Amino acid sequence: MLNRDKNISIGIIYGGDYYNINTYYNEYRNLMMLIYDNLYPDDFGDCLGMGKCGTCLIEILEFKTQPTFLDRNEGTTIERQHMQNKNIRLACQILIDEHLDGLKIKVLE
Ligand code: FES
Repeated sequence: MLNRDKNISIGIIYGGDYYNINTYYNEYRNLMMLIYDNLYPDDFGDCLGMGKCGTCLIEILEFKTQPTFLDRNEGTTIERQHMQNKNIRLACQILIDEHLDGLKIKVLE
């Protein structure tokens, strides 16, 4: 059962800097929206979460529990980017829930 009141702490490397962002269940639709709203990367999240543009690529560096992934076009979109690393995912296909607490990622630029 999900603990919807739990504080979710996520470590994000972006532009060479490290950010620790706190959120809670359902504050954002997905990880792409959280990054977009807090760090304002240029040209990020162009298809607004449809899994088609490939502009929200992140690398998962560490997690405590397996994140919850959607599967909206992710395989094809990542393949188009010629990425081989299985830890590279689309941030828009990762839901914000308690599984993300302790997650550490890098935004790929
Ligand atoms: S926002 Fe376009 S693929 Fe994630």
